[in-house]
Amino acid sequence: MEIFLDSASITELEHVIKWGIIDGVTTNQKIFLKEKGVNFKDRILDICKVMDSKPVSVESNGITTDEIVNDARTYAKLASNVVPKVPMLADGSGLEAVSILSREKIPTNVTVMMNLNQLILATKAGATYVSLFYNRAKDSGEDPVKIIQEYVKWVSRNNFSTKLIAGSIRHIKDVEDIAAAGAHIITIPYDIMLQLPYHKKTEETIKEFDAAWNKFLATD
Ligand code: E4P
Repeated sequence: MEIFLDSASITELEHVIKWGIIDGVTTNQKIFLKEKGVNFKDRILDICKVMDSKPVSVESNGITTDEIVNDARTYAKLASNVVPKVPMLADGSGLEAVSILSREKIPTNVTVMMNLNQLILATKAGATYVSLFYNRAKDSGEDPVKIIQEYVKWVSRNNFSTKLIAGSIRHIKDVEDIAAAGAHIITIPYDIMLQLPYHKKTEETIKEFDAAWNKFLATD
């Protein structure tokens, strides 16, 4: 499973990138709101540079096919690792945009999806990535673990190379559940990422070993 950081903060990215576990970045309008005052284009360029050739998702604010396609073309010109994010709009205009962009070889991440039908349609339209909003789907009564399991089987049975990103992560347990369900990618917010290396028993055990080592040194 690949791990993406769900953030537009260079400080956060530079911190966790040193752990050697980050395969990409996802952003959206709410994530940018946290970075008050930054220039959108400059920040995208900075993130893309830090990520080298790894994918960086940037969301379109369009609500018509033309607006989405224009946003995506503009974003894709910023850097070779930009992946334009396309919302799953109810009238199908997002799907139409993905279909056009796919023919132009512009990669896409179809976002804000809550069920298997949406994931399947986005895949068939030509999405490079499909984003399932794990906890928002749960909030609306869906079973996101089952959706991931079913999608992963469907995509391989039908020979698509589209990758499923599980987003909307709120708890460290979500990460384990999503990994066990077989998601290709999980995108994790910084505050959750920081909690992942910790386990109470690990801390206790390290302290126990340190104490033993100090006793060992004292026997010299
Ligand atoms: C994923 O690409 C989204 O940016 C994100 O995970 C949405 O999560 P939220 O439910 O916290 O808004």
